[in-house]
Amino acid sequence: MKLFKFNGGSRVLFVGAEAAPFARVGGLGSVMDSLSRALREKGCDARVMIPKYLSIEEKWKLDLVQKGVSVPTGNESGETHLVCNVKRFTPKKAGDPVTTYFLENQEYYEKRSNVYGYADDAIRWALLARGVIEFIRAHKEWKPDVIVACDWQAALVLNYLRIEYKKNPQVNGIATVFAIHNLYYQGMFDHRFVQEMDYDDGHSPVPAFENPRLTKINCMRRGIMHADMVTTVSPNYAKEILTADYGELLDGLLRERRNALVGILNGIDYSMWDPKKDPYISYKYDKESLGDRARNKTVLQERFGLERNRNAFVVGIVSRLSKQKGFELLYPIADILMQELPMQLVVVGSGDADLMGFFHGLETKYPGRVAAHLSFDAVLPHVVFAGADVALVPSQFEPCGLVQMEAMRMGAVPVVRRTGGLADSVKDYDPDKGAGTGFVFDKFDSSSVMIALIRAFENFRNKKEWNKLIKRGMSEDFSWEKSAVRYLEVFDRAAKLRERELKKEE
Ligand code: GLC
Repeated sequence: MKLFKFNGGSRVLFVGAEAAPFARVGGLGSVMDSLSRALREKGCDARVMIPKYLSIEEKWKLDLVQKGVSVPTGNESGETHLVCNVKRFTPKKAGDPVTTYFLENQEYYEKRSNVYGYADDAIRWALLARGVIEFIRAHKEWKPDVIVACDWQAALVLNYLRIEYKKNPQVNGIATVFAIHNLYYQGMFDHRFVQEMDYDDGHSPVPAFENPRLTKINCMRRGIMHADMVTTVSPNYAKEILTADYGELLDGLLRERRNALVGILNGIDYSMWDPKKDPYISYKYDKESLGDRARNKTVLQERFGLERNRNAFVVGIVSRLSKQKGFELLYPIADILMQELPMQLVVVGSGDADLMGFFHGLETKYPGRVAAHLSFDAVLPHVVFAGADVALVPSQFEPCGLVQMEAMRMGAVPVVRRTGGLADSVKDYDPDKGAGTGFVFDKFDSSSVMIALIRAFENFRNKKEWNKLIKRGMSEDFSWEKSAVRYLEVFDRAAKLRERELKKEE
């Protein structure tokens, strides 16, 4: 198979709001980092561009590579500009992040310690989008053949490229991919409650930065409309979003563009998730030394102030605590589960106040049996998945989900709802065939979660079969190996499509 050889070479720029290890809020941040590195391994010159948020430069050494990039704000009455610098992180050793560009602007990024959640986010993302294009025009050293814009925050790159910069030979040959990590977030508003007057069909010019209408445009729609190719993060989610149930009102448009839509399962970073080498766990192990894994359970219990008990059924939750993740299904069943099963519950993550309140309440009610660490943490997930018996992911929808794969890699058995990437990555346990890697339920309701957890517990008591189940999960391949190659194919297709379009326009 011809791997990756289109006209201009193999330079790919990922643009998004976050990228680990510089700025990470959720799965998107992890994927920006691990996917770009996996592509680099395949000989592709993948790079990343994000804003330079507060304190990035305190931790990372960056060079100034482009000074005074002048970004037009699109103001119709007298053009105005915002001025940005671009700084660069350059990898020094194997395993470092790929070359990463940071758009620097005092007002919109430098003063902000958070990635998301500001009243002027519309301007912040429009500035990123147009800043990327102006940077490419100004920067003579490196120009991408393909831009991958990730989620709505980066979508306007594609809109600007195909409309405002349509005739600009410096950039109009760049092929584009729009990567959907979560269709639910489409812009600065709730797309399900848009008034008719505010409806954005995606065809009008992007409003100027200073125009309040900028907050009303549907960036997700525009990204899908203008991209040469559209990807999402699992094959199953790619099918689901073509239906009204999962399409978030964009299913019609996605069906129109289905020939350009490809679902590729995310991988996880195997250098970071390896129980044989993991620096954060006390006892290293692999699937042939599960006895050593068992010792980590005690470590986990001590670390979280839980009763030391080898027979306890330890359920781990590592998640953003948002509605999407489905934890409110536990509200009516948590007490029953705590009373009926020798269960311990460990929670790591932050998010919605009501969910955090719920887990905090359980911790107070069941001291020694429930522990909640209600803030994001990069290390604790390793401790949890090395020691817990199961990992619960009952999502209402899940474009891919990374924790079920991280859990399996570490030997925690996933209990998940059959949706999105969870359905692609976890196979339901079949005792007759001795097959499967976890416990999968269908309906989004509390009884289904309860039944799945009870099923898992019943099987947990049969240590011999349980260990086989763990081993099967640990033997799955969730590395980027296969998926990175699929991305290269998508880039190739995007480049060919672009070439054809340009010819047509001539
Ligand atoms: C988003 C999705 C999640 C996915 C992640 C990385 O956070 O909600 O399912 O795993 O992006 O693609």
